[in-house]
Amino acid sequence: MNNDPKLSIQKLQSHHNKSSFKSGESSLDNYIQQHASQDIKRNLCKVYVATNGLDSSDILGYYSLSSQSIACKKLPPDIAKKLPRYPIPAVLLGRLAVSQSIQKNGIGELLLVDAIKRVKTIDQIGIYAMIVDALNMNVVPFYLKYGFLYLEANSTQLFLPLKSFNKK
Ligand SMILES: CC(C)(COP(=O)(O)OP(=O)(O)OC[C@H]1O[C@@H](n2cnc3c(N)ncnc32)[C@H](O)[C@@H]1OP(=O)(O)O)[C@@H](O)C(=O)NCCC(=O)NCCS
Repeated sequence: MNNDPKLSIQKLQSHHNKSSFKSGESSLDNYIQQHASQDIKRNLCKVYVATNGLDSSDILGYYSLSSQSIACKKLPPDIAKKLPRYPIPAVLLGRLAVSQSIQKNGIGELLLVDAIKRVKTIDQIGIYAMIVDALNMNVVPFYLKYGFLYLEANSTQLFLPLKSFNKK
């Protein structure tokens, strides 16, 4: 997963300083501050945070993962025709955010690649793709850069067939 020796990506824990995390996107800040711990307790998702080394409590960025499925009819026809008609198993990258002061420094890429690699290591259950509903159209190019495809043309809903991801 993450290969940056300085950056540690681990599960959100109680010593992490959630209240000071600011990405500039209030819904994402509010989620980690107010809701993430409850959702983890209820087993609705897992949340991973990036910090400067294992001991630091300052959150540089985070992402959340949970299970979902994709209705086959939502997939592009050329992909759907090779798949069964029932819901296709997927993992939802529910949220992804980097601290505003250090955006555009590669942390978003590290977190996204870590999330994809983490999901790819799961071999006890079948997972066809990662899906994401981008916050808005401005963020869509960020995901397209890593091989995500549109679920519906020009929408914010994207998916990445895990087989197609080969980044080291
Ligand atoms: C979107 C976000 C996660 C990207 O993280 P980041 O650390 O700023 O991005 P990185 O530095 O890792 O960028 C990696 C690449 O994606 C590109 N990129 C970053 N943000 C982008 C955006 N909004 N649109 C298009 N490309 C973007 C970068 O230019 C870079 O490409 P390059 O290597 O060719 O220069 C971060 O800016 C963020 O948290 N924004 C506010 C919250 C948000 O919008 N979250 C997304 C929820 S769907």
